[in-house]
Amino acid sequence: MQPIILDVDMGVDDALAIMLALQSPEVELLGISTVFGNVPLNQATRNALQVLELMGRDEIPVYVGAGEPLVRKLVHAAAVHGESGLGDAVLPDPEMLPAGNALDFLIEGIQARPGEVIVVATGPLTNLALVEKKQPGILDQARRVLVMGGALAEAGNITPVSEFNSFADPHAFHQLIKAETNMSLIPLDVTHQLGLAAETIAARLAGRDDAIARFIRESTRTVIAFEQEHYNYAGVHLHDPAAVALGIDSSLFEMETLVLDVETMGELTTGQVVVDRRPFSDEEERQGYPVDCAMKVDVDRLMHMFEHRVLGGE
Ligand code: RIB
Ligand code: CA
Repeated sequence: MQPIILDVDMGVDDALAIMLALQSPEVELLGISTVFGNVPLNQATRNALQVLELMGRDEIPVYVGAGEPLVRKLVHAAAVHGESGLGDAVLPDPEMLPAGNALDFLIEGIQARPGEVIVVATGPLTNLALVEKKQPGILDQARRVLVMGGALAEAGNITPVSEFNSFADPHAFHQLIKAETNMSLIPLDVTHQLGLAAETIAARLAGRDDAIARFIRESTRTVIAFEQEHYNYAGVHLHDPAAVALGIDSSLFEMETLVLDVETMGELTTGQVVVDRRPFSDEEERQGYPVDCAMKVDVDRLMHMFEHRVLGGE
């Protein structure tokens, strides 16, 4: 089994990513670390505890990470995910308590199994930047660091050019890219191809009134309403499940190494991932750092994997 640590900011698609990890026999979920992002840190931690209990997996520990970005001001995404971060879903108060500090957990979890653990980051990269600063080189001891974030040739989603996770803490993103940790990036360029339509959710969950089915319907309803209003799309994009899917089956994606960096100061461009595509004869002239990026995805295979494992049915 593939040991995985999920670092999440606990919006709806983070919850769907946790569910995919839990429903995947290939995955050994070692624990979850929380970070501010879609919702404030305390809410993200509460959401993670609640989703694990909903799934009957309260043996999986949750660790508390950073509550604010390294430099810039705090930003959340309640408009997309609802004030709770889990849309309209109402889950019982969690009985579990957080297990401890996320930075210690990430460092100890990676060090305990050198070269084995895949860290999947689906929120702002503050926790990962802090562990790399606390223990330089620690992320290179992971098997891989899979990051959902950035918009390369694709439009942004929080600004015209920036994706939310990179926008929420651009300094953390820049520091990780500069440290040249063994990161793979899953940008909006591929995740915007992974739309889960409202009608598919309805069809897959038809006739089910169990707690998990109710949670999926009620949590996704808010995101669907946002997407419908702003993008005329009746569905949910599987941004965070895509990062988990890469950890499960890398053949789902085609990767390309791009030289890039993240804007940290622009008034209009903070969080923008800037790719240097200039056709220099000497690639060393390019500005930025080499990052392994997912540029193509087998949409049908990934969507079927997710629907079958999380929504049920064939
Ligand atoms: O831009 C999409 C990403 O930002 C997803 O991880 C979503 O959950 C938010 O964190
Ligand atoms: Ca997220």
